[in-house]
Amino acid sequence: MTDANLAILHIHQLLTMAGPARPRVGAEMNGLGLIADGAVILGDGRIRWVGPSSAVPDDLRRQCDRIVDLAGRPLVVLPGFVDSHAHPAFAGTREEEYELRIRGATYEEIAARGGGILNSARRVAQASREQITANILHYAPLFLAHGTTTIEAKSGYGLSVDGELKLLRAIRDAGAHTPLEMVPTFLGAHAYPAEYRDDHRGYLNLIIHDMLPRVAAEKLAVFCDVFCDRGFFSVAETAEILEAAARFGLRPKIHADELAPFGAAELAARLNAVGADHLEKISPAGIRAMADQRTVAGLLPGTAFNLALEHYPPARALIDGGVPVALATDFNPGSCFTLNMQLILAIACTQMKMSPAEALTAATINGAHALDQGDRLGSLEPGKAADLAVMDCADYRIIPYFFGVNHCVETIKGGRPMNGFAFLAPTADTTGFRSARPASE
Ligand code: NIG
Ligand code: FE
Repeated sequence: MTDANLAILHIHQLLTMAGPARPRVGAEMNGLGLIADGAVILGDGRIRWVGPSSAVPDDLRRQCDRIVDLAGRPLVVLPGFVDSHAHPAFAGTREEEYELRIRGATYEEIAARGGGILNSARRVAQASREQITANILHYAPLFLAHGTTTIEAKSGYGLSVDGELKLLRAIRDAGAHTPLEMVPTFLGAHAYPAEYRDDHRGYLNLIIHDMLPRVAAEKLAVFCDVFCDRGFFSVAETAEILEAAARFGLRPKIHADELAPFGAAELAARLNAVGADHLEKISPAGIRAMADQRTVAGLLPGTAFNLALEHYPPARALIDGGVPVALATDFNPGSCFTLNMQLILAIACTQMKMSPAEALTAATINGAHALDQGDRLGSLEPGKAADLAVMDCADYRIIPYFFGVNHCVETIKGGRPMNGFAFLAPTADTTGFRSARPASE
């Protein structure tokens, strides 16, 4: 079945993110491809045409089954966010650890006591595949409602052959029931399970000889990720896992240099990883290595915010040093329990001194490249996926500036508006606020 052609006209600010077919670096990150009074035509799930409303070709307009005239209302339309680092496959939540941290315990102390990732692993062990699928599908509409159209979906709370397969199968199952696109990543090397704490060799063998072949045989993942940091996987262990994964066709990603300058960013560059994420403690040598290889730096400022870390990732040094930067939520029940990319933009701007335009580039086209999907996602250019978000703002800078609220009033995935542009109806009440006012207002 093909989707009807849809034209959206008189968009106050249309951010196309059009540009070179590679991750954006340096000053390029400030280029939004902004079209004032813009228009976009969608068909068959893709972008057919983009440009000023005054230049819409007549023949294309005639082919449209539906024309939505935004009439220059104070709205911003941009590519749906690509959240390139997320852990949606889990069971239960960890609010007790949240409170322990507020009372002074650190993330590493909680992990060393068997909490943290191992806490979630125990809950996953008790949950069925169907329960994990249902949990993913609980959060999927919320991603969409906040303007995110694609996420990465990592495993990593299974930490056993059956557990990791259960999570990856649940991600695949969930994908059949939500328009939210999920790119699966195998993260068996998220932490050493308790029974392998003193037997790293045993767990590495399990990953390499038991997990990877089955993940690859069922085509359950596109990427393989490792938590390469103090107290987790060493650089040598990470290299061994990722080199084995590459033999199974899985491209490397790394949780790198979050807790200590560990040489993980350098390893990501050496292995030609698609991205290295976190990087709160990246060294100057790591920045140079990533810039040389154009390895995408996936920054997750929500994690530094939520864990109250002393240091945010050095976004300015990375951008000014020529590293392409992406922004993502790190959505997970431990270190960062948010799925709202708009909030991530706000934290990135104020705490990491990224400009609003850089942050939007990082959350769209560079996020797409961080998932090796830059040729089909992340910008509004003919032929790319018709994935868009409509924000109830007069200017794109208001998305991070007015923080803590959801500006998104419509999300379009593969050409299909999730809410049918209901916000345009004269009686629409998207906030629950207007209806509470007296009728005379
Ligand atoms: O990306 N850094 C490693 N893993 C997650 C944390 C997962 C958890 O605490 O459950 C992260 O922050
Ligand atoms: Fe993570």
